[in-house]
Formats: sequence, C-alpha cells, structure tokens
Amino acid sequence: MRIAITGGTGFVGRNLAERFAPEDAVVISRRTGVAVDDVAALAEAFAGCDAVAHCAGINREIGEQTYDRVHRAGTAAVIEAARIAGVRKIVMLSFLRARPGCGSEYHESKWDAEEMLRASGLDYTILKAGMIYGRGDHLVDHLSRIVQTIPLFASVGLRERSISPIPVEELVDVLVAALGDRLPRSTVAVRGGETLLLSKAVRRVAALVGRRVVVVPMPVAFHRLLGALTEAVMQVPLVATAQVRMLAEGVTHAAPPTAELPDDLRPRQPFDQARISAALPPRGGFTLADLRLGRR
Ligand SMILES: NC(=O)c1ccc[n+]([C@@H]2O[C@H](COP(=O)([O-])OP(=O)(O)OC[C@H]3O[C@@H](n4cnc5c(N)ncnc54)[C@H](OP(=O)(O)O)[C@@H]3O)[C@@H](O)[C@H]2O)c1
Repeated sequence: MRIAITGGTGFVGRNLAERFAPEDAVVISRRTGVAVDDVAALAEAFAGCDAVAHCAGINREIGEQTYDRVHRAGTAAVIEAARIAGVRKIVMLSFLRARPGCGSEYHESKWDAEEMLRASGLDYTILKAGMIYGRGDHLVDHLSRIVQTIPLFASVGLRERSISPIPVEELVDVLVAALGDRLPRSTVAVRGGETLLLSKAVRRVAALVGRRVVVVPMPVAFHRLLGALTEAVMQVPLVATAQVRMLAEGVTHAAPPTAELPDDLRPRQPFDQARISAALPPRGGFTLADLRLGRR
C-alpha cells in the first residue's frame, strides 16, 4: 500500500510515516514544498497513492495560517485532489470535541472539515481523537518543561476536568488499520486507556523529571489571557487558546457523541511511567529561545 500523509512532518504524521518504507509514504507539508490548500500540487503528490492520511492542521493561528485556510480550504483541496488522483480513501485526524456552534474556531473548523469529508462521496474514516502523546508531542513536552521552569501549575478552571491521553503508537495503529480496509465510511472516537485529572498527569510527569509541583486551580479567564499572551510571544505557546477550551471542558467524551472503536482497535495503555518516559524531551525548562518576538 502506498499512502500520502498531509502533515507528514508533524508529530502524528511523522510517527505514521515511520511505519512505512520511505518509497511507500509521500510526506506532504509546507516544509516539503506543498501547502495543504494547493489542489494541483496535492493531486500530483497523491498520484499512485491508494489512500491519504490527512493529518495537517494547526491549533493556533499565525498570519496566513488561519483555521479557515488550513482546516476548511485545506480539507476541501485534499478531497478535490484525491478525486483527481483517483485515491481510494481519506483518513482524517480530527479532534474528539470538534463540533459546530461552540464558539471556538478550532473546534468549528475541524467539524466543518469532517462534514466535507462525510459528504464527499469518497470512502473515509474520521478519527475524533483526544490528546495524543509521545516523543515530540504537545502534551508531555509542555508539561515537563513547565514544571522544570516553575514549581507551580495552574490547572484550568476551578472545577478540574479529565483527559484520556493516547500513546501515539496506539493512535498510529488505528490510522494504519483505517488506511487499509477497516472502518469504512465511519466517524469514530479515539481515547487512551486511562482517564485521569490533568493535575494527576502533571504530577506524574513532574515526578519523572524530579520536580515537586503545586497545582493551583485558576479560573478559565486566567488561562484565556495566558493563551492570548503566550500565543503572541512564544513559538509554541505555553497554552494555546484552543487548548484552554479543550482543557476547560475535559477531553474524555466525543462531542457530538459518535461511534466507538471496535474492541481490537481500542487503545489500552495507561499514562504510566514507561510511556511518559518515552515521550520526555531532553531535560530543561523554557528559555528565551522559545520566544517568537519579531517572527511571523
Ligand atoms: N496532537 C494531538 O494531541 C491531536 C489530537 C487530536 C487531533 N489533532 C489534530 O491532528 C492534526 C495533527 O496534529 P499534530 O499534533 O501532528 O500537529 P503538528 O505536530 O503541529 O503537525 C502539523 C502538521 O501540519 C502541517 N501543516 C500545517 N499547516 C499546513 C499547511 N498550510 N499546508 C501543509 N501542511 C501544513 C505541518 O507542517 P508545516 O508546518 O511544515 O506545513 C505539520 O506537518 C492537527 O490537525 C491537530 O489539530 C492532534
């Protein structure tokens, strides 16, 4: 099977690409010279592929990288290019809580992309995934660097919510199955094997990097401000405003409710020492190099 992976240089896409021989996986991203909204370039890249894994996406807007352009126009272009190239199936990575009319452009644009794919007439699988972790992620990486920078962690909202983190290896197992003949014309929820409070996840990560951390519940408004501020000044924000929304409502249940994975594809691994250790970045907290002052 030959596949194309949009977002193939990103965290999830990279892990997926590693499951294939280099000649069987066409990696697509701006870094490889193809923007996700360029139909002609995508169709050329998709030529000879059996399926497309659509993993390109953003969780904060910068300049021309808007949710509308990357998620809506990008998905429309991927569908059009797949038709032109005669691709059999598109597997799209969406977010567990992507839904319409919720006031978050991240969630709404991801939902619109889902709807386009469901209406495309092509075979598809949409994975509505919760938070994914592994080396190079946005979860363990950030938590470990936060607790090595400051011994305080502000949890999101006065009433704390839970997450069900998915090891990237288990998520990739589902992607590979869907790129084959599994889950035809389906939208499914993907969650990890353990559900835990964010503060518990933070304490597990802190223990592994040898830090003690005090978790202080803070109102969501505080994190919205922190999100806006760190989006403006950091290359990867401490917390993006879209992530504030995710953490404020918890990442454990699909919205709207959707089908569950069949038993044999369901992730089972806990958020434990072995898996967190495998995801840890090199030791150290945030530094001035994490700032994006003056960059676009
Ligand atoms: N990580 C999670 O926990 C999680 C959970 C559920 C859903 N998701 C969704 O899954 C997708 C991938 O997540 P990730 O964690 O792998 O993100 P990531 O590490 O930030 O990777 C994003 C990828 O998309 C590419 N990309 C962004 N804008 C593009 C454009 N205009 N044209 C072509 N490629 C573009 C990036 O490459 P370039 O910058 O080089 O273009 C990169 O390869 C996202 O849509 C995310 O919202 C992620």
